[in-house]
Amino acid sequence: MKLPGAPFLAYRGESLHLDGCELDALADRFGTPLYVYSQAAMLAALAPYQRALVGRKHLICYAMKANSNLAVLQTFARAGCGFDIVSGGELARVLAAGVSADRVVFSGVGKTREEMRLALRAGVKCFNVESEAELEVLSAVAVQEGRQAPVSLRVNPDVDAGTHPYISTGLKANKFGVAHDRAVAAYRRAAALPGLSVIGIDCHIGSQITEIAPYLDALDRVLDLVEAIEAQGIALHHLDLGGGLGITYTDETPPAADELIGALLTRLDARGHGHRMLMFEPGRSLVGNAGVLLTETLYLKPGQEKNFCIVDAAMNDLMRPAMYEATMAIVACRRRDEAPVTYDVVGPVCESGDWLGRARSLAVQPGDRLAVLSAGAYGMSMASNYNTRGRAAEVLVVGDEAHLVREREQPAELFRGERLLP
Ligand code: LLP
Repeated sequence: MKLPGAPFLAYRGESLHLDGCELDALADRFGTPLYVYSQAAMLAALAPYQRALVGRKHLICYAMKANSNLAVLQTFARAGCGFDIVSGGELARVLAAGVSADRVVFSGVGKTREEMRLALRAGVKCFNVESEAELEVLSAVAVQEGRQAPVSLRVNPDVDAGTHPYISTGLKANKFGVAHDRAVAAYRRAAALPGLSVIGIDCHIGSQITEIAPYLDALDRVLDLVEAIEAQGIALHHLDLGGGLGITYTDETPPAADELIGALLTRLDARGHGHRMLMFEPGRSLVGNAGVLLTETLYLKPGQEKNFCIVDAAMNDLMRPAMYEATMAIVACRRRDEAPVTYDVVGPVCESGDWLGRARSLAVQPGDRLAVLSAGAYGMSMASNYNTRGRAAEVLVVGDEAHLVREREQPAELFRGERLLP
């Protein structure tokens, strides 16, 4: 099997390395469960987006929900990225990473008034508004603040991204965006509201998309709207095409980012819209294959129907298998010269849904470290404290240096804000 994450992730001899660092040695040094990311792999994932957009007005807004560690944000900020945020918490984080708010777009169906106020005061580049009701509230808040909120409407193009139902967002049945047939009326309303300044349009059709076709369908639908909206005398400066490009977890074959962008640019040019400022909101495709989750094997438990490999990472550390039945590759940090056995790899949490991998062929003994691959996106950012388990530490590898970029959470931190009754 070609390792997802190669060439940054590779065996040297029998030992798995990420960039210049041996993963087993990082587990010795920092403990497990441990998230480890490669900065070079992140920048290499960004490069084809940047390459494809040379000579075009553009801003690549990293969707920080995928991995919001401050050092990861700093990495993308230094590389010239903007950011897509979805909460006041993400706003605080991105500002703490030293990012200027005029590189930040604010998405999400349920922004609170307080979040709107904070984002207005910070001076975000654009609010991606998801409903007509939100337009009214945002305008009112902006007027109270004595400001104008820059807005784009997230339109729902009603295309099927062909992905998991929980992460498909561009269908009529989804809660996201303004329906295609309401969009022109919503833009007219937005243009009339005193607290808003219309600057763009956006869409995002889903996540882990492995085909170009749904993007082109969505683009056509959005361009139809752009033309209809501008015919009403409302100018749109930018076009934000969202994120969603998939990665290889096992055998998926998504297009490369430059291939996708190239196809979109060709369509934009053909329809006479190639001059517009373009924005993208990639998350997973920038960080997913740049990270692994390291875990130590605690026990092997042979059974009549199944063998279990019980490890020290659990569903609270990595939700994707439990939540989406996601398949993520699992390999040994040190290869053993032994016959592999088929195991379900499971964590210590008291739920049958607590598994990281099913029916995996592994040569493993207690004490061995395993790496769950492609864990750089939606891994740590979705982690919880269920079972009062402290969240894992995070390490960012830069060349052959390993930087601890988040300390392991200690039990006392988990109930610090709680109070006993008098
Ligand atoms: N923009 C918006 C408005 C989004 O809602 C999302 C992701 C993105 C951009 C970035 O999408 P990406 O490029 O990462 O596909 N937790 C799920 C994925 C949820 C995605 C939610 N929205 C998972 O682990 O698969």
